[in-house]
Amino acid sequence: MLFLAQSEIAREVDNAFAWIGGISVVLLVGITIAMIYFVVRFRRGRNPKPTQIEGNTKLEVTWIVIPTVLVLFMFYKGYGGFKMMRNVPGDAMVVEVQAAQWYWSFHYPRQGITSDKLYAPVDRPVKLELHAAEDDVVHSFYLPAFRVKEDCVPGRDTYLWFQAEKEGTYNVFCAEYCGLDHSSMITELVVLSDEGYDQWIEEQLALKNKPVEIEVAMDPESEDIKACDAPTLYATYCISCHGPEGRGGLIEDARDFTAPVGWKRSAKIPDIFRTLSEGIEGTRMRSFVNLRPWDRFALAHYVAAFNQGPKPTSSEEEIAKLVEDYRIGEVVEAAQTIPVEEAMRLIAEEAGRGE
Ligand code: CUA
Repeated sequence: MLFLAQSEIAREVDNAFAWIGGISVVLLVGITIAMIYFVVRFRRGRNPKPTQIEGNTKLEVTWIVIPTVLVLFMFYKGYGGFKMMRNVPGDAMVVEVQAAQWYWSFHYPRQGITSDKLYAPVDRPVKLELHAAEDDVVHSFYLPAFRVKEDCVPGRDTYLWFQAEKEGTYNVFCAEYCGLDHSSMITELVVLSDEGYDQWIEEQLALKNKPVEIEVAMDPESEDIKACDAPTLYATYCISCHGPEGRGGLIEDARDFTAPVGWKRSAKIPDIFRTLSEGIEGTRMRSFVNLRPWDRFALAHYVAAFNQGPKPTSSEEEIAKLVEDYRIGEVVEAAQTIPVEEAMRLIAEEAGRGE
């Protein structure tokens, strides 16, 4: 029953909705009954000569006061929930959300982790900072079970927050028609226990910090490459433009990977890795540098396999250049700095405990 209200905000929204809906039903029924009564009572047969009524102060005051009170009451009910939605608790954990045609990507700035599903710990406020690239369109991040929805507008920073009360998996939708594959812009929110969440972070950090051995990375049959689940990555990040099986053409300038020609760079692994890391300027192909290097290599192999032309091999030089340019094999530690607000909060918390 995951469409039921799953948070304080959700209950506030449902409550306001019930009040507004209830008032509307009462008015609808009341007006309909009055209308039917008047039609019957004042039909031509019974009331052949219409009476002219000129002003009735009591009646006029009534129909000004009652609707005004009703409308203000509805506003009051709605405003409670709205205020809650806009005021993010100070201790909220921040996740950056990137909306793009047509996928969601979640970035955990503290750990430098990127994920295609949103993971969150239970009973903790989570603030989502929503972004869309300058050259993208408007999307809308929607968590139905939590009754929160906010537009992701190119060039503007928007946000929302939620706090899950129960572990589980919840739908995430794009609620703004954003082009051809709008309907597939779907992902999940996975709410874990505190321990489960910490464990997930640990796993992701271990994966991220695992140094890339270039010989292993260049071998599509290696265990590490196979462990990356390239088909899922492709389905998440690439398929909406490049099509199933790499057949391309879903947007105007998307490459058809099966064609022997038409690669902006070559069909060699180092070149595809570069494209994935940097994007291609002046096109819709953006940088996927947030993906782990292992994942980028796995995707490169996956995409290269679509190429039906002769299989090009990369020279030692090209590989050496790649290692140098991308510092492959080095462990790049995640920045362990914490934002100022967070530090201030921790200090305040410490001070409060001392009292
Ligand atoms: Cu993004 Cu609809």
